[in-house]
Amino acid sequence: MADNLATWGGWEPAIRDDPFGHFADARARCPVQKARLADGHPAWIVLGYDAARQVLNDPRISKDMLAALAEAGDVVAEGLPGPEFSRHMLNVDPPDHTRLRRLVSRAFAPPRIAALEPAIRAIARCLLDELDAAGPGATVDLVQGYAQPLPFRVIGELLGIPAADRPRLHAWFQVLLTGWAGDPPPEAVEASDGIVGCLRELVETKRHRPAGDLVSVLVAAEDDGLTTQELLSSLFQLVVAGHDTTASLIGNGLIALFDHPAQLGALLADLGQLPAAIDELIRFTAPVPHATFRVTTKPVTVDGVEIPGREQVLVCLGSANRDPVRFPAPDVLDLARSNGSNLGFGHGIHYCLGAPLARLEARVAFEELLSRYPCLRLGVDRDALAWTHGDGLVLRGLASLPVVLGPSRRQG
Ligand code: HEM
Repeated sequence: MADNLATWGGWEPAIRDDPFGHFADARARCPVQKARLADGHPAWIVLGYDAARQVLNDPRISKDMLAALAEAGDVVAEGLPGPEFSRHMLNVDPPDHTRLRRLVSRAFAPPRIAALEPAIRAIARCLLDELDAAGPGATVDLVQGYAQPLPFRVIGELLGIPAADRPRLHAWFQVLLTGWAGDPPPEAVEASDGIVGCLRELVETKRHRPAGDLVSVLVAAEDDGLTTQELLSSLFQLVVAGHDTTASLIGNGLIALFDHPAQLGALLADLGQLPAAIDELIRFTAPVPHATFRVTTKPVTVDGVEIPGREQVLVCLGSANRDPVRFPAPDVLDLARSNGSNLGFGHGIHYCLGAPLARLEARVAFEELLSRYPCLRLGVDRDALAWTHGDGLVLRGLASLPVVLGPSRRQG
């Protein structure tokens, strides 16, 4: 590249796995800066807390990347699984955003989510029972055996995905979300085809035999003008947004607790601290380190820097959440910190619709795990942990988390 732009994303493993020092250096140099992404495209990176809030809530900054790129005559590079799956609430602006969000938001209303607690607890207990079988001295993979399947089963229940389809669907999503550089590898294409086939079949089934699940609600909305593209896209987005994020919160959160044994001890002594602790774990571990891409529709000044129209903007939530202007001693994990205003779930009209569900899942997951295995410990060297997620931009989590469970206090 002939310009002097710093690159953003596609980092070497040391930065990708623990990016916070890198974010802090970049933020200190320039809280709003133009950089070059790993795919070669330029983008404005927003690192400061106030600037991030402004960008996430500014109607001049659009989420409809496809429209903006097409308007600019740019070649639209469609990722997998392709355009039929890209018309969902996180990719559009009002009024389409309002319409699509409203359709699913009833299913995510706080009282409805609270009513899911017994079902989520039953799923957590069932998964722990399976891990129990390995015995107290065995090393088990807490990501593959607990953090990943728990939210996947929950979103499967919510959507009405048949239990028999879930394992292969989950395996395909894991391949697709791992990320890659350049053209998709054959296994990603295969996974994408599998997901597409499965979701289409699910919609067909619910058209003929509607039930009380979210897919049936969306299928019924076709009568009110919801297009098949919007329906399939919404399903795809809900599955993606609804499992890997929460799985990363549970896995990353546990590592942060292992790294801070005194705070883990205090939490074990009073699991009632979990709701506040979970917010701090989101702030501190950044399961979603960047918001999704946005584009300016006209020139916008952010923190004194003018971003021209039609430029990509990427908000670094992991940096904003460690901005010392907003969070004193930002690099200190403090489970008692009062930080309802952290940006881990985003901000503005695209604020995470699943936040109440994610908080509930994480609370139940930690309650069940820590009360059953109070002596739980890391089963490998801290440096040997396997992190995942190719470019390190939108997701940050562990591929596996070996732990020694220790004696079980299983009840009943
Ligand atoms: C710890 C777990 C989670 C984190 C950290 C997280 C984070 C986020 C963030 C940062 C956004 C905004 C993205 C942007 O503005 O570009 C978002 C949006 C969204 N999330 Fe989550 N999320 C989590 C779990 C979930 C769950 C469990 C679901 C649903 C089952 C969900 C559904 C959604 C949806 C539908 C949107 C789009 C909202 C809109 O465009 O109006 N998320 N999430």
